[in-house]
Amino acid sequence: MQFILTKDYNELSDRAADVFLDVLKAKPDATLGLATGTTPLGMYSRLIEKSKKQGVSFREARAINLDEYIGLSPEHPQSYAYFMKKQLFSHIDILPENTYIENGVATDEAEEAARYDDILTKFPRDIQLLGLGSNGHIAFNEPGTPFGSKTHVVTLAASTVRDNSRLFGADEKVPEKAFTMGIMQIMQAKKIIVLASGAAKAQAIAKAFCGGVTEEVPASVLQLHPDCTLFYDVKI
Ligand code: F6R
Repeated sequence: MQFILTKDYNELSDRAADVFLDVLKAKPDATLGLATGTTPLGMYSRLIEKSKKQGVSFREARAINLDEYIGLSPEHPQSYAYFMKKQLFSHIDILPENTYIENGVATDEAEEAARYDDILTKFPRDIQLLGLGSNGHIAFNEPGTPFGSKTHVVTLAASTVRDNSRLFGADEKVPEKAFTMGIMQIMQAKKIIVLASGAAKAQAIAKAFCGGVTEEVPASVLQLHPDCTLFYDVKI
């Protein structure tokens, strides 16, 4: 694991965007594993700016997202499909048919998970972006998820529902279930970058990267990846 301590969130976003641009410059048809949440917002806006300035195209690239709430359609403003369109895809030249996310309103959950597994097998990720849950989750793989997991349905931990409720309106209920890419599939990416920002993530970082590798702290598995870099903006 490589740790990069940045002076602030701006530098973190900037440097993370550069890593993605370098992957695309070296391989224009790269498959990018993407994440939602608050932490990558800065990186996505830098990626939009910098790719325009530097003439880097996403036309041949693919994007595969980590997770999606069950019960939210892609048009729902809190769905991750909507988030990706709003924050990134509508600002770059990626082709909509080359963007993938689980279908939150699939009628058959097992069939949907199997469909996503097939996509992940067909398109190995050149790079995977991750955020870090305050309980150490990666994607929506909550503590206790087997490291060998593939795409599956999760019941979100109470702490995750609480953390994410800030993004929902007062009268909206945070979904309790989600589809998530599995830990095994995350680990299959050639390169992984983890973004974490702020003191609220310090404990999760210490547990995930300064202790042993255990399924009780899903992110700890990243210690075993040959090319994983954590960008963090607080000294611990
Ligand atoms: C999002 C995801 C989650 C978030 C994590 C951190 O696709 O998979 O694991 O990365 O919950 O979220 P933020 O960045 O909002 O703190």
